[in-house]
Amino acid sequence: MKKAVFYESEPWETKHLKENLKGYDIKGIEQRLSLSNVGKAKDAEVLGVFVWDKVTKKILDKLPKLKLIVTTSTGFDHIDLKECKKRKITVCNAPSYGENTVAEQAVALLLAVTRKIVESVERTRKGNFSLKGLMGVDLKGKTIGVLGTGKIGKYFCKYAKAFEMKTLAYDKYPCKATAKKLCFKYVSLNKLFRESDFISLHLPYCKETHHIINKKNVKKMKKGVVIINTARGKLIDTEALLWGLKKGIIGGCGLDVLEEETAIKEESELLKLGKAKQRIVKEERQLLKDKRVLVTPHNAFNTIEALTRIMETTVENVKQYYKGKAQNVVK
Ligand SMILES: NC(=O)c1ccc[n+]([C@@H]2O[C@H](COP(=O)([O-])OP(=O)(O)OC[C@H]3O[C@@H](n4cnc5c(N)ncnc54)[C@H](O)[C@@H]3O)[C@@H](O)[C@H]2O)c1
Repeated sequence: MKKAVFYESEPWETKHLKENLKGYDIKGIEQRLSLSNVGKAKDAEVLGVFVWDKVTKKILDKLPKLKLIVTTSTGFDHIDLKECKKRKITVCNAPSYGENTVAEQAVALLLAVTRKIVESVERTRKGNFSLKGLMGVDLKGKTIGVLGTGKIGKYFCKYAKAFEMKTLAYDKYPCKATAKKLCFKYVSLNKLFRESDFISLHLPYCKETHHIINKKNVKKMKKGVVIINTARGKLIDTEALLWGLKKGIIGGCGLDVLEEETAIKEESELLKLGKAKQRIVKEERQLLKDKRVLVTPHNAFNTIEALTRIMETTVENVKQYYKGKAQNVVK
């Protein structure tokens, strides 16, 4: 029987995999993949991972039988694709499980920041019903800059339209028909930064998009801009974000993802980091203390509907690969 090992697999997910991948030897491990537990997958042909499971060269060295990696996520920047290619390991993702799901979280964060929802609730829980300092701003009539008009970005643009916002967008591969249908306009990055009251990021992380929000770009932004990031932490230079908040250029942020989110979650990870990354974690801790900043724990995908779609896609990714018709292959 082909052995398939899934890391960060909740018991209900492992049950779903076992029920739907009959004929495979399925093992679900609730922990995150690491050098200390990769041995549990040493005979595996299939490896299941999520965004926090870093599939590095060192990890791959321990998996000599591996043929297929299925990531239960859209993003795949946690997998060393070059190394996989060298070893002829196929990598498949779940490309379209939650475009509305993630866009809904982006809207939720935008509203939570602009209407100071968290601070309001914290107050009333303490019996304090004062409105002092809780004045917000409308979304209607404001300009929103959307970076990335792929599956999630498009949904976000739809929601922006429903709120009667003016939408400016930036994408390496613009889709004019979508822009017409959803009433948004593609502009240069500079124009987007100059004119947006709010900015929402929906780009994949890669070399080109690394720190697309940097100090140089923050300087171009409108005073009081609100930045929402539900895509990837490394799209934003954390130092530049803190600087922008300090200078009052950035009025608030809603972040579902952080630059060093694995390390900030686990103290043991922090000790393994070099000085530069430790500095980023320190900066992230400063962000967490700032009332203008709302951080959620990479939770945008986390709805019952999206998780069910992920499991269905993952099962199909494995089945199709073994039928010789690999689907959702990332390169
Ligand atoms: N927080 C979460 O839980 C969560 C869940 C799912 C996805 N995500 C993130 O959201 C990202 C976007 O997802 P998606 O499904 O919309 O992806 P997608 O591939 O459908 O869309 C990405 C868009 O970015 C554009 N793009 C790519 N490289 C670019 C570049 N260098 N410059 C400008 N534009 C570029 C593409 O043309 C495309 O339109 C994912 O890559 C993932 O990192 C986060």
